[in-house]
Formats: sequence, structure tokens, C-alpha cells
Amino acid sequence: MSLLEEHQPTDLEQMVGLSRRGFISAGALCGAAMFLGGNLLSRSVLAANAGTSTLLGFPGIPAATTDSISLPPGYKSSVLISWGQPLHKNGPAFDPSGNGSAEHQEVQFGDHNDGMSLFPFPGDKNRALMAINNEYTNYRYLYPHGGMPQSAEEVRKALAAEGVTVLEVQRKNGHWQFVQDSRYNRRIHGNSPIAFSGPAAGHELLKTSADPHGKNVLGTFQNCANGKTPWGTYLTCEENFTDCFGSTNAEQKFDAAQKRYGAVATSKEINWHQHDARFDLATNPNEFNRHGWVVEIDPFDPQSTPVKRTALGRFKHENAAITQTSDGHAVVYMGDDERGEFIYKFVSRDKINHQNPKANRDLLDHGTLYVARFDAGDGNADHPKGQGEWIELTHGKNGIDASSGFADQAQVLIHARLAASVVKATRMDRPEWIVVSPKDGQVYCTLTNNAKRGEEGQPVGGPNPREKNVYGQILRWRTDRDDHSSHTFAWDLFVVAGNPNVHAGTPKGGSSNVTAQNMFNSPDGLAFDEAGRLWIQTDGDVSNAGDFAGMGNNQMLCADPVSGEIRRFMVGPIGCEVTGISFAPDHKTMFVGIQHPGELGGSTFPEHLPNGKPRSSVIVITREDGGIIGA
Ligand code: FEO
Ligand code: CA
Ligand code: CA
Repeated sequence: MSLLEEHQPTDLEQMVGLSRRGFISAGALCGAAMFLGGNLLSRSVLAANAGTSTLLGFPGIPAATTDSISLPPGYKSSVLISWGQPLHKNGPAFDPSGNGSAEHQEVQFGDHNDGMSLFPFPGDKNRALMAINNEYTNYRYLYPHGGMPQSAEEVRKALAAEGVTVLEVQRKNGHWQFVQDSRYNRRIHGNSPIAFSGPAAGHELLKTSADPHGKNVLGTFQNCANGKTPWGTYLTCEENFTDCFGSTNAEQKFDAAQKRYGAVATSKEINWHQHDARFDLATNPNEFNRHGWVVEIDPFDPQSTPVKRTALGRFKHENAAITQTSDGHAVVYMGDDERGEFIYKFVSRDKINHQNPKANRDLLDHGTLYVARFDAGDGNADHPKGQGEWIELTHGKNGIDASSGFADQAQVLIHARLAASVVKATRMDRPEWIVVSPKDGQVYCTLTNNAKRGEEGQPVGGPNPREKNVYGQILRWRTDRDDHSSHTFAWDLFVVAGNPNVHAGTPKGGSSNVTAQNMFNSPDGLAFDEAGRLWIQTDGDVSNAGDFAGMGNNQMLCADPVSGEIRRFMVGPIGCEVTGISFAPDHKTMFVGIQHPGELGGSTFPEHLPNGKPRSSVIVITREDGGIIGA
């Protein structure tokens, strides 16, 4: 069936007499129409839809499978910092043999960098701190034997490779560089002391023999993406913590909550529990409940203790997108990256104090958590849209009480997934990053993929339209009254990824803003720049074959949110995931994370030494003419 035959004109197309050819290039046309308030399709919008976005000032580049960074003509990149680099001048050097100790790793840049935020020094445009997540590690390169950890010391080294790195950067001779001797350089890793706060702090389910009060925990790990608060702190999000636990009792039976959070006796990827009892569910079951939180860090106070903010709920947190209501309360949008899990929103009880940043110290401890429910939408194959609502997750409301198994609000937060199921939230295709447009307040969320949606019995439709979704999509919503306090919103799919070379037409070929030139799979990282360009990073199938033929390595694209046009801006090296993004204040420098190059071998990025090891790195992208990135 040809595209033309399959396509039925929509009301909107009939209204303006758009041809299919026009619609194919139109991208998220209806989204553009919605954005403009319904009265629309001006010549300029149609011109933009024709592939001539004036917001995107660079030519899209081809897919690539090389072990290098590909960029448009006129752009260049360099390395800011790589895994293992000592944070201080007298620190232990990176040892590519894998023989470096845990103690060494605790004072070196962590592994697998992911989300990151830049914090400029007030009044100094050439100095900033960066807080950077170190999500996980790869035993292939971490240990000399390249296999599972074999001792408590090796577990400690893995824990040291994860967490967060805070470092100073300075612009010297026009180029942003890592400052190795800064007093702000700091590691917060899997054994660092961290406090609990908020409604679940001190709860029975958080108490362990090492912490009988349930108020202090060792470590943060599996730190995926991030958030940056308006009061100058960093939020790091604990994602795949469930992988870190196992049981020395192979017959251990888990309760419903443990099962829902993925507890299994055999920790198939990490095996820490065999050498560190903290991760043994047989002897320390509550340690499991002490991870899966959002952690707040003050990068400007190297002595400060990070805090796990329990009011934001416990799940496999991807990132934390912060904005505010029209009357000044903080709003945090968050995704739970698991097949069939949910999208959440937290609204603070108190207003943000913009005059006195320190007054917001405990702002994220008091507020209301909500979960999203989406309707089935209009069923449009190319560009579905519909309505949604936020359901409150508060003990005593919406059926969340003793009758559904919740004794108190702390339990609602510790088992947020179960509470969200009670209110019949919509099971999503793995929510990853969420960002809020600085231009119009619309919220965008990557739904990275979900190949088992149908198989696992999750309803197909609405914002999750595919039974076997190997490509992913980007969802967006606009809150009613353009106020993030609103309990209702209108949603649409900004892009449905696909491969038009392999599959004709939607859904597998992708929505009409996906072409043979810009195709990609598994959108994950997202960021808006101040001009309103939407940057999209991928963490997908890099086989370059079958459903993914022609897509090459993981990449970063840039979209015009109004016209829907998407262009490929960067391609990463072999085996990497592109994740983590921030901008210098003048937007003439962009920092991008290259995570796990050579995940399965085959890469020596970035040094390209003979037989060298690949190293996760933060790269610095600039223009040869010194211009604004993407313009
Ligand atoms: Fe760490 Fe869902 O990505
Ligand atoms: Ca991710
Ligand atoms: Ca991902």
C-alpha cells in the first residue's frame, strides 16, 4: 500500500486543502495549529513545514557508524572530561588496566556520565560549576578481569564509579575547560552519606540495622538524568536501583510491592549482594526501599549532605523537570522508566522564594504528588491527540487508603507505583526525559520504546499507539489555562519515530515529520535551548540493520517545535548512548554526554590509542565562527 493510498485526509487538511505531499512534510502540523491557538496555518507555518525552519540554522547530517563525533560543517568538538580523570592535581591517574583501587575511583570522575546541569557563578560569566550524573559502569573496563565483581573491594569500586561528580569549569581563551584544582570538585558516590527528608523519612520501611532511625542512607547510584532548581541546587534521579539488589536465599518469596519494584533473587547484571550484605534482600530487605528517589545537592557547598526528597515518590526516576505554577509554586514533572509505568507531577505546598534561594531549602519536602491519566485520543495514525488529567496520590483520597493496602502517606510515596495503579493511571511506553518549553510552557516527554506493550497486556492506544513499539515517540501536553497547577491538559504526539525506508506509512514508518534523512529510534534525552529549539538524544538499537537499517549510531537531533521539522545534528561514536546536555550561558558552547562508547567493544573513543579503552566523556561543542549552537 502506498502512503497516498493509506492516508485519509483529516478535517484540518480538508479545511486548508493540504495535499498528502504537503502533509508529509508538515510534521506535527496539528501541534503547530494547537500552539498557535487554532487560527493558523499561516504561510510562514506552511513554509516552515516544508523543511525550511528558520529556527534550525544548520543542515541535517547523515547517519554514521564511525567511532567519532559527526557534526554539521562549521562545528567542532573537544573533550571536557573522561571517566577516571582525577578531580584534584595530586589525585591518582586513570589506570586503563582496571587495576586502580576503589579509593582511587572515589576521587576520579565517575563512569557513564548522564544528565548534567551547569551553574554559573553569580556575576562571573567565565566560571561555573557542573554537576554530572555517573549512571553506572561497565565491568568489561572497570576491572582487569572484565567480569562480575569478585570481592567487597570490587563492589566498592563499582559504587565509587557511580553517583554524581561536581566540578568547576572556566572559560579560558574562549574555551570552557575543567579546573582540576577547584575546591568545589567533589564526588558523591554509592557510599557517600545522604539524608532522608520529607514524609517518608524515618518510616519503618526505611529502617535498617545500620540506620535504626531510617533517616540516613549510604549512597546514591544508578543516577540517570537530572533537574536544576530555580534556587541553585541540582537534582539527581536514581533509576535502575532495582538491578543492584539480589538475595543469597534463592528461594526467597517477595511481596507484591517488592515484586512491583523488580526484586529478584538473582541480580543478573550487578551481583553486589554476594559481597556486600547491604544489597542482600534476604538480610537487608529495607535497604531496597532506600533507593529510587530524587536527591537534592547544593553544588556550591562542598561540605553539604545531599538529601533524598521522599515527597517526590519512589520509582525508577529518569529526570526531574522543574517549572512553576502561575502563582509561584514549584512543579516537578517526572517519568518512571519501566515498560508500562507512569508519568508523575509534584506541586510544592509553598511558593518559591526567588529573592532568597536558601529559603527554598525544604521546599521539595511538602506538596502533592499526582500521576497522569490519558484518554484514548482521536486515534489519528499520524498525529494522535487527546485529553488527560492528573490524579492526586494522597492517602485518604481516590481510594488510596487501608482498604487498598496503604497505612499512611509515607507508604504511598515508598510504593508510588502501587498507589498510581489504584487510581488507574495510564501505563506508558517507558517515560524518559521530560522538558518544559521556555517559549510556550508545553511539556515534552520521550517515550523511548516498549516492544512488549501488547505481549504484557498494556492497553494499546492514546499516547501509546503501538502494540510492539521498537522506535518510541515524543509526547507533549499543554496544561489547561497554561497553568502547571491545572489538573487537566491536552496532549498530542510530537513525533512517532519509525523507519520509512523499511516500513511504508505510519505507524512503523513513523509520523510525517520522520524521513529517510532524519530517522532515529528510542528518543531519550531532551533539552530546550533559550531560543526554543528542542534537542533530542537517542539511546537505541545501533545494529543499523533490520528495523533499524540506516539509522547508524546513537545521535542527537534538533527540532523546531512549531513546524515539527527535525534535523540530525550529531552522531556519537560506536556503541555509545548520547545522553546529558547543558549550555554555557551565552549558548555558544554546548556540553554533551557520550555514555558507554564501545559498550560491547569496538571503540577506543575518545583517545583512539592502540588497544586503548573507550571512556565515557563529556564533550564540548562549539562553532568555528563562535556563533550560537543550532542557530
Ligand atoms: Fe537512564 Fe531511562 O535512562
Ligand atoms: Ca535515559
Ligand atoms: Ca534509555
